Amino acid sequence: MTSGGDCAGLNAVIAAIVRAGYPLGYEFIGFERGWEGLLSPPCYRELKLQDIRGISHLGGTILKTTNKGRFGAKDVDGVKRIPMEVLEDAKRNADALGLSGLIVIGGDGSLSGALQLCELGLPIVGVPKTIDNDLSGTDRTFGFSTAVQVVVDSLDRIHSTATSHDRVMFVETMGRHAGWIALRAGVAGGAHAILLPEFPFMVEDLVDFLRLRRKHTGSTVVMVAEGAKLHDNYVGRANLSGEVHLGGVTTQLMDEIEALSPGEFEMRVTVLGHIQRGGTPNAPDRTLAKAYGVHAIHAFDKGHYGHMVRYNCGQMDIVPISEACGSMKIVTTDALDYQTAIELGVFIHRPTT
Ligand code: F6P
Repeated sequence: MTSGGDCAGLNAVIAAIVRAGYPLGYEFIGFERGWEGLLSPPCYRELKLQDIRGISHLGGTILKTTNKGRFGAKDVDGVKRIPMEVLEDAKRNADALGLSGLIVIGGDGSLSGALQLCELGLPIVGVPKTIDNDLSGTDRTFGFSTAVQVVVDSLDRIHSTATSHDRVMFVETMGRHAGWIALRAGVAGGAHAILLPEFPFMVEDLVDFLRLRRKHTGSTVVMVAEGAKLHDNYVGRANLSGEVHLGGVTTQLMDEIEALSPGEFEMRVTVLGHIQRGGTPNAPDRTLAKAYGVHAIHAFDKGHYGHMVRYNCGQMDIVPISEACGSMKIVTTDALDYQTAIELGVFIHRPTT
């Protein structure tokens, strides 16, 4: 099952699970539209070897996926849980289909749900998925590298138009409440400022930085993570509080800059949005996705239920899903990309010297 938002590499994981699982004696069905496919009435398709041939390089997921469906966590006595009747429906359907178990390819929410279903007696192994690369317990998720590549390709184009017009160009990335995509792509693509949820900033500081750059160079390219936040001490009109809303953050920020420096800068925004998620996975994501798939079916075969496969220091191993979910992996000052950016004079939360 693929669940939650799609990303590049999902088909490569599916194909690898089936290909590595056949010699172990498994047969596969794929549930369609994420958890929706396992809830009544179940909706699934057979996955034989001929069904997964030639799909690894394709974007999206042949199984389709659902981000918010009936399997969503609800507040049950102050704790976020999947309602018991929903879990029982899934378990009943799994039993009726004679499943020996389930491999769930999903993010934090899908994997927490998977763990609850596993506790109800359905053997489950998880595969971590998100372009945001913010899942704890694994060094890297597939889809991240492709998303970064899309952003870098866009930055290359933005630089030349920024220079031609001496403009301030804002490029907004996805990443939800983490800044990994913006930071990695910003460093690779030579952004002059990178605004991240993890490092709230003052608009005055950014305006000073823009003025300095205009004096010496002309144009500025600003990478904005969609969850970027203003510093608590900033008293302006904008309310950049980390609320994720594609395009919202950057539009507010531009208004704020205009209020502080009327007419000084000619500004434009490009919101990259879902092109970061769609399309063909690049080579690093394909290889990572295939490794996840192969190790997921082996973990299942060895009975490591309630665990998730993870990429750890260049190797694959497993970790309890409970350890991987719940806390988000965020950018800290220890991150190599952060340090590189600072050394290169990139504005992250204050002007560098
Ligand atoms: O978590 C992946 C992600 O692409 C985020 O970066 C983004 O905020 C969100 O999903 C967008 O979700 P949707 O597809 O529901 O708009």
